[in-house]
Amino acid sequence: MKFDTFKMERWQSMWENEVELNLSDSGISPLTLNELIEGEGVESLLETRLAYTQTNGTHELRERIAALYPGARVENVEVTNGTAEANLLAALTLIQADDEVIVQLPNYMQLWGVFQALGARTGAWNLAPDLGAGRWHDRLDELDEMVTPRTRMIALCNPNNPSGHVLGADELDRVAAIADRVGAWVLVDEIYQGMEISSGPTPTMWGRYDKVIVTNSLSKSYGLPGLRIGWILGPESTVAECWRTHDYTTIAMGALSDRLACGVLETARRDRVMVRTQEILKRNLPVVVQHVSKTENLKPILPKAGAFLMLSYEERINSSELAERLRIEKSLLVVPGDHFGMDGWIRIGFGDETNHIEEGLSRIDALLNEVRHAGTS
Ligand SMILES: Cc1ncc(COP(=O)(O)O)c(C=O)c1O
Repeated sequence: MKFDTFKMERWQSMWENEVELNLSDSGISPLTLNELIEGEGVESLLETRLAYTQTNGTHELRERIAALYPGARVENVEVTNGTAEANLLAALTLIQADDEVIVQLPNYMQLWGVFQALGARTGAWNLAPDLGAGRWHDRLDELDEMVTPRTRMIALCNPNNPSGHVLGADELDRVAAIADRVGAWVLVDEIYQGMEISSGPTPTMWGRYDKVIVTNSLSKSYGLPGLRIGWILGPESTVAECWRTHDYTTIAMGALSDRLACGVLETARRDRVMVRTQEILKRNLPVVVQHVSKTENLKPILPKAGAFLMLSYEERINSSELAERLRIEKSLLVVPGDHFGMDGWIRIGFGDETNHIEEGLSRIDALLNEVRHAGTS
């Protein structure tokens, strides 16, 4: 099994801690441990035994995760090291060489890379950007036409990274019906659930069809990526198989992380964390909107959910080159559209410090102005 470079993660791994301004992240400004526990139970936390924890997640944690999904039981849940491991385990468990897999694009691209490494045949179901209308089109008819009896899985991310587009209940039901026609699995990465801006709560895929896998984590809407706690939700026997695969990857999660994750999923604490997330989104998106309304350089499609958006630009410079120049000349990290197969675009995150966003956008503008003047002089 040979992996191609996961371009976006490599780019972030190399540079996110080396620049002055990092607008490459897609999540919410992470909480400190102090903010998370608010002084409650520090003593008992110190008593946590740093043992191998229950390898598929403690019963208590799985119970709290199951409670988030109507009809789910602990047996439907496996806890993993982030959504990254959840996606990996689901793919390793369900996909083999030559299986046909359809992936919604643009996409985070982890699953795309894993499917390719497994020797699967990957097909792209593309969301279409519409700058004029300021939205993305689902093109579910295209998905319907692509699916064949050989299709083993349809993989999507909802809310979608990097577009911020959200499929509603009707669209998810349609995906389920399309998959059901050929008995394909539907894997939905729901990591950006809870980061809705202009749409209501994102409906889950769970419960819409029997061959559904949902993946998620505490990394984005909860602002806790450093806990590395994610999960797989699926039919009991499939989840048991994923757990078997887990024995080969990381065995278990950190015991302290399992403990803290249980705490954050208590209703009152979860509500507090989610209110904070909504406050950050509501505070920061207007900064982006105001900036792009003043510049000719950047055209946005505003996200329905997520702390990130795709910005289109017209200057004749490749997006990877633009991102590299922003990094070197302006000490700013953004994600080039190339990483999503969308040259002429960049993705910026707006979940962190409000003043970083305004400053970062100004640096992008400045560089695009320099590119234009260099082209005309
Ligand atoms: C769609 C998507 N899935 C998974 C991940 C990885 O998540 P985690 O940090 O929970 O492993 C990311 C991170 O950006 C993501 O955007």
